[in-house]
Formats: sequence, C-alpha cells, structure tokens
Amino acid sequence: ENTLRALAEAAGIEIGVAVNADLLENNVKYRNIVNTQFSSVTAENVMKWEALNPQPGVYDWAPAEALIANAEANGQVVRGHTLVWHNQLPTWLTTGDYSAEELRAILENHVKTVAAHFAGDIQQWDVVNEIFNDDGTFRETIWYLAYEELGLPGEQYVADVFRWANEADPEALLFYNDYNLEFTGPKSNAAYAFVQELIAAGVPIDGVGFQGHLDTQYGYPDLQNNLQRFADLGLEVALTEVDIRTFVTQKPNGEYTNTPADPAEGAEQVDWWARTLEACLAVEACNSYTVWGVSDANSWIPGWFTGQGAGLLYDMHDNPKPQYEALREVLREA
Ligand code: G3I
Repeated sequence: ENTLRALAEAAGIEIGVAVNADLLENNVKYRNIVNTQFSSVTAENVMKWEALNPQPGVYDWAPAEALIANAEANGQVVRGHTLVWHNQLPTWLTTGDYSAEELRAILENHVKTVAAHFAGDIQQWDVVNEIFNDDGTFRETIWYLAYEELGLPGEQYVADVFRWANEADPEALLFYNDYNLEFTGPKSNAAYAFVQELIAAGVPIDGVGFQGHLDTQYGYPDLQNNLQRFADLGLEVALTEVDIRTFVTQKPNGEYTNTPADPAEGAEQVDWWARTLEACLAVEACNSYTVWGVSDANSWIPGWFTGQGAGLLYDMHDNPKPQYEALREVLREA
C-alpha cells in the first residue's frame, strides 16, 4: 500500500484533509481521494456556528453527521472545527441585540450543546480558533468584548469555553488553533505565554493547532522550533490547515490559472510541503498533519487572494501534483 494514509500509519501520525461536505456527497473522484488517501478529516465549513445553528435554538446536524458517518465507515478520525470563532457566526447572533450576560449564556449553551452532541465522534476539537491578532494582542471578538462589559478580563472567555467543552466531551483532545504561529514573533510569543497561563490555571487544554497557511512570498517559518517549544509545555501539537500558495500565471483573457508564475517558487512550494511534514515528524508530540482541501479546484485561496493559488496537493482535475509525491517520499523515509 502506497497511499498517504498507509504511509502515515507506518510513520505513526494521522494525515488529514479538510472536507467540503457537498463534494464528499456528490463527487465520486473527490470522495475516493478523501477516503483512500487520508486517515483524518476536518469539516471545512459544516461544523461552524452559522452552519450548525442557523436560527436561534435551531440546530441542523445533518451535514456534519453525514461527514462523520462517512469518516467512521472509512476508519477515519475526525477533527472538530470549530466551537468558537469570530467568523461564520450566524446573522441572528451578530445582528441580534443581546446583552453581555445573554451573550455569555449563548456561548456556554452553544459550546456545551455542540460538544455534547458530537461526543464520542470527535478525536480533537478546535475549541477556540484565531484568538490573537498578529501583533500579539487579543482579538476583540464579540465574546472578548462581552466579557469586558461584564467587568471580566476579555480573554477569560477562552478558559471558560475549554472548561465547558471538557464538561460536555471529556474524551476529545481540546485544542487552541491559529495561523502564523509557525513564525516566531509577537503572535506566537503571546500564544506561548497565554497557554502557559491556561495550564497553570488548570484549564483543560490538550493541544495547539498550527494552521500552516503558508505563502512563498513570506519565506519559510521556523516551524519546527515553534512546534517544539509548545510541545515542551506538555501539549500536543498539530498542523491543522496546511496549504502553500504562490502567485500564478494569468491567461490572455485575464483568468488566473493554477500554474505558479515563477517556476523557482513552484519548486519552493514542493520543498516546503516536505519540510512542513518533516517538522511535524521531528516533533514527538505532533500528532497529525492536515491539509486544507483536496485540490486546487476547491481551495479557498483564489477566492481570498487574487492572483494566488496552486496551494494544494491535487490539481484542477484532481490529479496528484509533485507536492503529493514529496509528502509520500517524506513518509517513506520516516
Ligand atoms: O454557504 C454559502 C452559500 O449559501 C453561498 O451560495 C456561497 C456563495 O458565496 O457562499 C457560501 O458560503 C461560503 C462558505 O465558505 C461555505 O462554503 C462563503 O462564501 C465562503 O467565504 C466560506 O469560506 C470559508 C472560509 O473559511 C470562511 O471564513 C472557506 O470555505 C474555508 O476554507 C475557510 O476556512 C478557514 C478556517 O475555517 C479557519 N482558518 C482559515 C481558513 C481559511 O480561511
């Protein structure tokens, strides 16, 4: 067996993918790649608050449950993504006229409801997602501001949601997940200090997720050192959303392709895939390596960064790219 998943199993880590629930249901080639190549799945969108809880008191579990059922049928573990985030919140919540006290009750109810509903099915939860700004200050989310209004430190919501999640699902590993933690700097330093405070306060945090959305124009991060210093706190670490983007060529009609504009950066991309996986394998506590989507045809990147792409392991036709071979090579040598 030569699949990513077979090789990863031999190497002792989970290899994961973010899954688009519609494609999983309707696209046979996509589903086949997900089920044969990966041992872990993350819902790209269907476990987010707006998806699960579109109206006050109304929960729509079906898309997430279908994703979980497919994972279980294929012997895959599930990373839950995400209980608390400032994006993709339902409109009723962001536009509703709620007091700080009501917001705190809504938060507690959501975290407990969702964690309890999926208890037993989730190996690890991204309990909180993207809580820091790049300058190392806390992001002033709706929750942060509500806690301040209650006269509490804004960031205290984080400790609360870890405790609520743990109460509702004592089995799942509970993660804080963020981007740019790969680079040593104000953000990863602030996160490093904060998780130590959480641990000292007895908050049930098990791990830190490094999203790993890399871009060739910014240089390769000191990823392994950062994984290691968080691991040295006694935490698990994981690469949770890896993709590696670059500038791509444009057709005469202006449309962007998924071919790297600079061949040297295209080669760099492939190399970075290998290095990110090697970094995870080199850190004992790095339990999983998840890529953020199957192919360049269904990546979030072109929609968010005009002129960039080519960030995933499979091309526009779901055929494996050199980055896929690079990962297999690293796993074979592990
Ligand atoms: O559901 C609507 C659909 O009804 C509508 O027709 C369609 C038209 O635009 O939009 C659909 O919503 C989209 C949603 O994904 C669900 O597919 C949003 O426009 C789109 O913006 C949203 O993008 C997601 C993004 O998070 C939103 O913040 C991406 O798919 C998803 O890959 C991305 O994932 C995040 C992680 O959760 C956290 N870390 C960063 C990562 C990349 O941004």
